[in-house]
Amino acid sequence: MTNPSRRALIAGNWKMNNTVRECVALALAVSAQGRPGPRTDVVLAPMFTALLAVSEALKGTGVAVAAQDVHWEEAGAFTGEVSAAMLEDAGCTYCLVGHSERRHGLGETDQVVYRKLQALLRHGLTPIACVGETLAEREGGITYQVLGRQLDALLEGASEAVFGGVVLAYEPVWAIGTGRTASPRDAQTAHAFLRDRVRHRLADAADRVRILYGGSAKADNAAELLAQPDVDGLLVGGASLDAASFARIIQAAG
Ligand code: 13P
Repeated sequence: MTNPSRRALIAGNWKMNNTVRECVALALAVSAQGRPGPRTDVVLAPMFTALLAVSEALKGTGVAVAAQDVHWEEAGAFTGEVSAAMLEDAGCTYCLVGHSERRHGLGETDQVVYRKLQALLRHGLTPIACVGETLAEREGGITYQVLGRQLDALLEGASEAVFGGVVLAYEPVWAIGTGRTASPRDAQTAHAFLRDRVRHRLADAADRVRILYGGSAKADNAAELLAQPDVDGLLVGGASLDAASFARIIQAAG
């Protein structure tokens, strides 16, 4: 971790996997084996039904809990949805928004992601807001246009004080679940682009905002990704489902 002013963050996105019992067992194994350094935060994101059980199991361990999604309304007739207040009540302190599996698989727009981000901020939950280009966009030479558009939508009306606490995750869609990781240099270029774009609007927040890399991050490539000056942590899918491999990733953060 080359920028000592920001704490590292290693996040495990468990996606739609495991039973509640399996989630609790995995969370306990991660907290026992993970041993983060003094400047590293660890967060686990199980599915909705396991949030309460996992957050109770992790009490006192220092490992935080994230939800994978949220609805922007406070309460009411929104069948199947879960509000930020409900996530807070279930022990979450973080929540993903704008994951590519929701943007591309479920049609979430930049505007929807923005409304979700705002709902989290109203409740003091830390958003982990994901951005990233598809393979077609990368090959079409519009990676930075896409990242810029997705980030600008999140920055709408943002203040220095609040946005500095937001976590961004650069997750190139072509690297997710494919075993194909962005090179450390490509990841650094994208992260530096995102930080500069934040700086353009919010000079102070830019140095505080943490930017995670996600997309086939694993124990074997964690250290070289984390060595990049603008890579502040990792958002890990597949490799977070195994406690030993996730523990090695946590250790790579120092
Ligand atoms: P993989 O690590 O399985 O590629 O998933 C990345 C991801 O989508 C994390 O949110």
